Amino acid sequence: VGETPFTSVGDALRAPADQTLHLRGWLHRTRSSGGIVFSVLRDGTGLIQVTTKKGSLAEAEFEAAQKALTESSVEVEGTLHDDPRAPGGKEVRASSFKVVSFAENFPITGKETDETLLDVRHLWLRSREMAATMKVRASVLDLLREFYDGAGYTEVHCPTFVTGQTEGGSTLFKVPYFDDEVFLTQSSQLYLETMIFSLGRVYTLQPSFRAEKSRTRRHLTEYWHFEVEAAWYSNDDMMAEEERMLSFLAKRTIERHPAELEVLKRDPTKLKAVEPPFPRVKYAEALELANKKGLHLKWGDDFGYEEEKVLTEGFEKPFFVTHFPKEVKAFYHRLDPSDPKLVLNHDLLAPEGYGEVIGGGERVWELDILLDRIKEYNLSEADYKWYVDLRRYGSVPHSGYGLGVDRLVMYLLGLDHIKWALPYPRMMRRVYP
Ligand code: 4AD
Ligand code: MG
Repeated sequence: VGETPFTSVGDALRAPADQTLHLRGWLHRTRSSGGIVFSVLRDGTGLIQVTTKKGSLAEAEFEAAQKALTESSVEVEGTLHDDPRAPGGKEVRASSFKVVSFAENFPITGKETDETLLDVRHLWLRSREMAATMKVRASVLDLLREFYDGAGYTEVHCPTFVTGQTEGGSTLFKVPYFDDEVFLTQSSQLYLETMIFSLGRVYTLQPSFRAEKSRTRRHLTEYWHFEVEAAWYSNDDMMAEEERMLSFLAKRTIERHPAELEVLKRDPTKLKAVEPPFPRVKYAEALELANKKGLHLKWGDDFGYEEEKVLTEGFEKPFFVTHFPKEVKAFYHRLDPSDPKLVLNHDLLAPEGYGEVIGGGERVWELDILLDRIKEYNLSEADYKWYVDLRRYGSVPHSGYGLGVDRLVMYLLGLDHIKWALPYPRMMRRVYP
């Protein structure tokens, strides 16, 4: 708005001293002492100190600066000075201080519980921690696209309203649909599979929904799902590509976001360890490993959050768990030709207790086997007619995976709960704001 060219805080911090600047933003902190007001101005590109001295600007502006509470929006004109004590090493000495809108007492003071911070999420998003997280999150998505576009994939889009389950009926959200009832998608995988025939390799990003009555630190009811599907890929091909993708992401995140990692107190050496090759552990070995670490699992048990937490102990980088018993996994997984009790799948587990961030594998691609599997799982053949059709017209071996973006961000940034990884988490007991 207006004629004055404003400088962003980020640019101001990099600019040489002694020039006159116009800045605008919000008062991140403010206190006054005697005839000086010390403020820290925030604008989304950084934080900069502003000092406003009685006598160096109009009296009414000085009073406004004194009166303005944290989060007031302001426009400041002043000269830039080097000040090693100030955050970012720069200070602006105000020659004009205009309050655009005086804030009321901000309800967040720093002593709130997690629950309260969720209640005022619309305001907590102004925190440095949330802002840093959202920057890294945006960059993760940017890097995923860069990686897969470079690897010959095409981004596609799939529906949210669907008529069939992908990952088991118990976690479906039902929604009224005119005179009918449909579901919110659990995964775009089956739709992605339809597109490999024309595009070869495809990926998509969209929310998936899970009505899981799970209250672990990694469960959302609505989460951002990045999914990949590629013709002619074996389970091993897919794992190898995921390794390259994840190490690329980790490396670039360290390079691009030192400031954000610092705000979040994330030690970058944890991410430096994300280098290929990632260990590959078969389900049977993982079971033994988990039991050696004190669990009492038997063949056929799935690994939940608690089991994976134990399982990740001693791993410094992500690792794959493969060859699960077929009963543990969904109907579309390809059976291992050398041991048809097992499927050719992979879960990628992140270390430090984070556990599964990716689930994927090779798909059943032969018509008769798929029909058998659909029966075995008591699914209706009619519901999957279109999916089965793919095995009638030039079927090929293929693989894919789904990555929980929120879980990946949680791991990369060392967050203690998935609710910190996205702006508005949806959980069993949380759909507001
Ligand atoms: O392991 P899942 O259920 O696999 C599928 O949906 C496959 N159809 C994906 C595919 O092959 N295209 O989910 C994939 C990933 C998990 O590894 C996890 O990271 C994430 O989605 N995820 C969740 N994230 C947050 N909250 C939840 N409730 C999640 N459920 C799964
Ligand atoms: Mg899974």
